[in-house]
Amino acid sequence: MKGVILAGGLGTRLYPLTHVTNKHLLPVYNKPMIFYPIQTLVDAGITDIMIITSGPHVGHFLGTLKNGKELGVNHLEYAYQEKPDGGIADALAIAEDFADGQSIAVILGDNTTDADIKKPAANFKEGAVIFLKKVPDPQRFGVPAFDPKDKTKIARIDEKPEKPASDFAVTGLYIYDNKVFDYIRQCDPNFAGRNQLEITQVNNFYIQDKALRWEELKGFWSDAGTFNSLFTSSQFWAKKAEK
Ligand code: G1P
Repeated sequence: MKGVILAGGLGTRLYPLTHVTNKHLLPVYNKPMIFYPIQTLVDAGITDIMIITSGPHVGHFLGTLKNGKELGVNHLEYAYQEKPDGGIADALAIAEDFADGQSIAVILGDNTTDADIKKPAANFKEGAVIFLKKVPDPQRFGVPAFDPKDKTKIARIDEKPEKPASDFAVTGLYIYDNKVFDYIRQCDPNFAGRNQLEITQVNNFYIQDKALRWEELKGFWSDAGTFNSLFTSSQFWAKKAEK
């Protein structure tokens, strides 16, 4: 299995910090943010990794990560998303050649977790696996609505709903088979009213094809795209380093 880290966008919610560098290179405690998702993949045995980035500071990645060897990456590739505001699915589309027919583990570059995804990655055969986490503010995320007849199944996922159907967030960690690229081609930029290709629509396509499974992420998980979540993430990793 190959790994893809999505590290594009303008990070407008973190201005003026993201005038300095790309969001995913900002410090989370003592490391650039993107070191954490790289570590999650490497710990799961995934060492063939593509980083997809965009925006005004793309050159900073190369100088920071070089060939990834210091982080345990065997093969590191970089790709450029032409539209920095094209959305997560638009960025992922670029990885089609890199995936080369294989399954991929995808992590959003601002998601940090101490959960271990080694088993779900090793056991993965086909379809999609998404990872959920209970959160106090689900309206900030993709939110699963569970099937009332079978609570183990997700009936649909809503992107940033005003009235969340559950108190779970769909985290930015996903495992997909190669069909993901066909689903992306079917995405509609108006799906969530943001003029972006949404990963939530891709996940809904998998649900419609009865090919989406989910697991609850154990341990800490947070995004870091807002001042509060960036601060929370730094606090967690600082405390963990003390232990
Ligand atoms: C994105 C996804 C959302 C997901 C979140 C996880 O949101 O659209 O479904 O729950 O990442 O971090 P964004 O960070 O683009 O607002």
